[in-house]
Amino acid sequence: MADIFDAVVIGGGPGGYNAAIRLGQLGLTAACIDKRGRFGGTCLNIGCIPSKALLFASERFEEAKKTFGKLGITTEVGLDLGTMMQHKDKVVGELTKGVEFLFKKNKVEPIVGEARITAPGKIEVRAADGGVRTLAAKNIIIATGSDVMPLPGVTIDEERIVSSTGALSLKSVPKRLLVVGAGVIGLELGSVWRRLGSEVTVVEFLARITPGLDGEVSKTFQRILTKQGFSFHLSTKVTGVEKKGDVLAVTVEPAAGGAPQTLEADVILVCIGRRPYTDGLGLDEIGVARDPKGRVITDSHFKTNVPGIWAIGDCREGPMLAHKAEDEAVAAAERIAGRAGHVNYDAIPSVVYTAPEVAVVGKTEEELKAAGIAYKVGKFPFSANGRAKTILATEGFVKILAEAATDKVLGVHIIGPEAGNLIAEATLAMEFGASSEDIARTCHAHPTLTEAVRQAAMAVEGWTMQM
Ligand code: FAD
Ligand code: NAI
Repeated sequence: MADIFDAVVIGGGPGGYNAAIRLGQLGLTAACIDKRGRFGGTCLNIGCIPSKALLFASERFEEAKKTFGKLGITTEVGLDLGTMMQHKDKVVGELTKGVEFLFKKNKVEPIVGEARITAPGKIEVRAADGGVRTLAAKNIIIATGSDVMPLPGVTIDEERIVSSTGALSLKSVPKRLLVVGAGVIGLELGSVWRRLGSEVTVVEFLARITPGLDGEVSKTFQRILTKQGFSFHLSTKVTGVEKKGDVLAVTVEPAAGGAPQTLEADVILVCIGRRPYTDGLGLDEIGVARDPKGRVITDSHFKTNVPGIWAIGDCREGPMLAHKAEDEAVAAAERIAGRAGHVNYDAIPSVVYTAPEVAVVGKTEEELKAAGIAYKVGKFPFSANGRAKTILATEGFVKILAEAATDKVLGVHIIGPEAGNLIAEATLAMEFGASSEDIARTCHAHPTLTEAVRQAAMAVEGWTMQM
């Protein structure tokens, strides 16, 4: 006999666990299945949270070595990598347990095992011990997330040739770390190991780092990272890796073809993107459509082409971000409960947690140009912000793009201290359809970094006062 639920969620990441919690809040009977054994998905177990724990710790380490002296603090600094890793593991443990607590509170049944949809409304869950449980549900939400994109010809062993997962748990600081892919993971985890002592070389296929970011921000970002010690090989591809004793010999060549070159490394981090994780779920057998990238196709309400089956998060289109998955989770659960949930994709922020941080919401200058939208630009550097000076973090700027005809804010791009927190104000402004003048005329506390956002908004109309 099948256990019957109003809705069953497959996948316990930010998409899946938030969907299950919202379903429970709305009074529906829900279960959330994950095969990992610990809930929280990629984000809590091997993504956002452990990476931010190491970014925080390694930033303090570098600060103690390089900045404390300037503040009159003398100290002897040493690295205890084991304790740093314990800090990361403790945070992950607490947060993943927290998800189970939230399930209990919202009457969601957690189920550990690998799920497969055998027919619309029917799910089979196979536990690690081989036991099989059958569930029935009017609604099934697929929230199976994503997995590491492999690099052809390079086998990840998670010890010397690692994905982000291995890079979060290295047992010692590699002398030379070669990063393949100048995207978010490469620059965040590259920063962690550079701060702890590695020489970091990044090989990127394209002619720029962080594709998708505003071009001006990306250029400034590369200049700052280079000053910190990163070395970049742009327009370059990795064609092979050979293990020569303790050394990895990496063959690279120009992306457009040309003479090969060999780089040596002790550890290689492969981070060239992630791919949706939708195999083995039985989707082809029951006719759920996927696109050529393997992403589950849905309409704007997260419904697949098979009635009663929904999809959210990394396994469908859109940015692979935890908060995007969470927003889709809330909207899908509300739709299932007969409410009007929806996601505003124009106001989804994105943050790179390096130092300085990079945070964006909305359109880039390149996107506005391509769309033929006339816009005004307001910029303000952190070097002119009082608070930034007091915390010795004056690199970077805030840039606000507003529609020329209406002054509506279309994009905000920040590179600088606390950019990830500062972007919340811009996101809220955009959600409310604010003009740059709305931001410029809002009182901002002094002395805070938020004043840089206000001054950039003033700059849109040419009345920046603190420059
Ligand atoms: P996931 O979190 O991937 O969860 C899917 C879950 O489904 C997994 O636990 C998997 O075990 C389970 N599953 C899959 N198939 C089955 C099955 N058949 N049966 C049962 N269970 C199954 N995003 C941010 O917004 N901010 C960040 O700072 C950030 N940092 C990141 C750092 C790293 C190193 C990585 C790798 C990613 C990071 N991300 C970050 C991205 C973020 O982790 C993802 O966007 C987010 O986890 C997606 O959530 P999801 O619920 O769609 O999928
Ligand atoms: P990414 O898409 O950010 O960057 C991949 C980079 O690799 C790109 O610059 C791409 O041009 C390059 N590349 C692709 N193929 C290549 C090749 N063969 N050789 C050299 N370079 C190549 O992907 P990344 O960094 O792996 O991260 C995956 C996803 O995880 C991100 O897109 C993001 O959605 C999510 N994430 C988010 C974080 C955040 O929000 N702070 C942190 C980490 C991950």
